[in-house]
Amino acid sequence: MSNCATKTFEEFKKLSKKERGDFFGSDSGKLLSVIFAQQFNTDFLRYIFKLAAVIREISITKRGRDHLRTLCSDRVAELFFRQSSTRTRNSFQVACLKLGMQIVLNGDEATESTAKGESELDMAHTLGIYSDLMILRHPEPGFVEEAAWHLAQTGEKIPVINAGSSQDQHPTQALLDAFTMFEHFQQYGGFAGKTITFVGDLRSRTVRSNVYLSRNFPGITFQFCAPENHQIEKDIISFLEKHEIKYRICNQFGRPEITCSDVIYMTRLQNDYDSDDPDRASRVIEGFVFGPTQLEWLRHDAIIMHPLPRRSELDVKCDKDPRIKIWRQTKNGLWIRMALLTIIFGQDNVLKNDVNFASMFIR
Ligand code: NCD
Repeated sequence: MSNCATKTFEEFKKLSKKERGDFFGSDSGKLLSVIFAQQFNTDFLRYIFKLAAVIREISITKRGRDHLRTLCSDRVAELFFRQSSTRTRNSFQVACLKLGMQIVLNGDEATESTAKGESELDMAHTLGIYSDLMILRHPEPGFVEEAAWHLAQTGEKIPVINAGSSQDQHPTQALLDAFTMFEHFQQYGGFAGKTITFVGDLRSRTVRSNVYLSRNFPGITFQFCAPENHQIEKDIISFLEKHEIKYRICNQFGRPEITCSDVIYMTRLQNDYDSDDPDRASRVIEGFVFGPTQLEWLRHDAIIMHPLPRRSELDVKCDKDPRIKIWRQTKNGLWIRMALLTIIFGQDNVLKNDVNFASMFIR
């Protein structure tokens, strides 16, 4: 983590993503906070994946689970979620508990001092200084990073994990997605040369963070299948061009797009960010759905992913097919989040000594 001489968040924001990433930590042993996907380089990613696999392996036995519970038993985490969540919130809660941490849940605006006019930043600051870590989901663009910067200025340098920041980023989702893909392609010669197709509403923060992580897997091609008004945004295109990552923009999703894909990553319509819509919770984007017909066209070694929650864009009739990895992703969220917590609290070294880490294969 670099020494950052900026005095205000306004000054900090003007620094490059690289400098801000270095400030929050971009290496094992130096991870203060997890704020955006660009913090992770290839070596660090592989290390996190290995650690997640080790934690999963250790968790098989009672002795192992008891041991894991000792690792962070002196730590308290505040979970502050200002947007709905099932998987992210629960997997973080369970990850903390499995490492022996205590947790405090927040987010009920009616009973908090924000109802008396307190700013969200003061609220976050307060929760942070009571705890050893804050896990934060927030609808306001840039808020998570701002809170993390403020908490890094406190004497204890309280870490913050971004559990979903507006429409911008969701780095821990991207980490668990990349882990799921990485493991799957180990049996098919690795990631290089694979085609990942994102389908639906590509304004999704999970898609954005996934693309940012992809720089670590050379030889990848992206396909972005969406109607024009839901297509991948210009800043992501600039990122891909800067890093010479191949991509195709498709305004349809049919047989040709499916047969050339190694991964199909479905997304739901992000209309919770749009103005009032009476069918808000059920709408899908017509023509950008995956069901039994599309399953027929899918290659035998390809996989289907979705960050969830889903609507009918990914038909439940497909769920029994082994190429549907949505529950694997969901479970991987737990191992990845436990791995991150052990790194933040410097307990990953204990795990490295516990098992034969070097020879550990990733299952
Ligand atoms: C995603 C999110 O909140 O961005 N869900 C999740 O965390 N697994 C995806 C979504 O809401 O569409």
